[in-house]
Amino acid sequence: MKIITSPKEMKDFAHSAKAEGRKIALVPTMGALHEGHFSLIDRAKELADIVVVSIFVNPTQFGPNEDFDKYPRQLEEDLKGCADHGADAVFTPSTSDIYLPDASTFVVEEEISQHLCGKSRPKHFRGVTTVVSILFNIVQPDVAVFGDKDAQQVAIIKRMVRDLFMDVEIVSAPIVRDENGLAISSRNKYLDKLERIGAARIHEALLAGKKLVDGGSLNIDRVKALVINSVTNAKTRVIYVEVVDRETSLPVNEIVPGKSRISVAVWFGQTRLIDNIEI
Ligand code: PAF
Repeated sequence: MKIITSPKEMKDFAHSAKAEGRKIALVPTMGALHEGHFSLIDRAKELADIVVVSIFVNPTQFGPNEDFDKYPRQLEEDLKGCADHGADAVFTPSTSDIYLPDASTFVVEEEISQHLCGKSRPKHFRGVTTVVSILFNIVQPDVAVFGDKDAQQVAIIKRMVRDLFMDVEIVSAPIVRDENGLAISSRNKYLDKLERIGAARIHEALLAGKKLVDGGSLNIDRVKALVINSVTNAKTRVIYVEVVDRETSLPVNEIVPGKSRISVAVWFGQTRLIDNIEI
């Protein structure tokens, strides 16, 4: 497995692979890799000849009071995980490789990013679309794989790729959950053992909402109220519970079974967690 830090070397690697007619898949990550990321690498291997994993904790997607400094960094362990899962290259640039000191260009999606996480994290998606565009320009993937846990992020990236005529296919892969149902996330590292068990109530609340819909209730307010009540306890503070269109992640006024999703974000103690379920 090749470990590449410079954008120039990464571009050269991509050019050579393409010249040999090979298809490249990119799995963009911020490191602290877990089973969810490994499932994306496994999916990428099914889709392309060469799998590149990028590991870059992207400063522009963190707000001023967010967890950029304490975000888990464990490069050695991550490299081992990538190698074990058969990645061909890991691209791990420094911040100054990606953002020149006077960089002044950003990529902004202006509709989907106004909702859900975009409301409480105003510049978050601007940072995501910008860094993903930069990574696409450097790695030149034919396909990029993202996790469904970040369903709004996937919808925004798909919209960006469509709007900007980018030549990359966006594939999403299912949420991976721990034995209690908690969606696996790098931020779960902030939770202690008991908190992890408690945070499983987020998935239980989503399942309760789905059960209500499966039972025939299409009343959004009832579904949202049930999810909010099920998720709330002394440890949690709901940031949002929304019923959205499954493809666009835009909030809807009507539940359309088979085409909708319930998305939630909660503070669980000091940790911000998101999850969703298709309904
Ligand atoms: O989902 C993530 O880990 C990040 O938002 C991404 C896509 C790697 C961009 O920094």
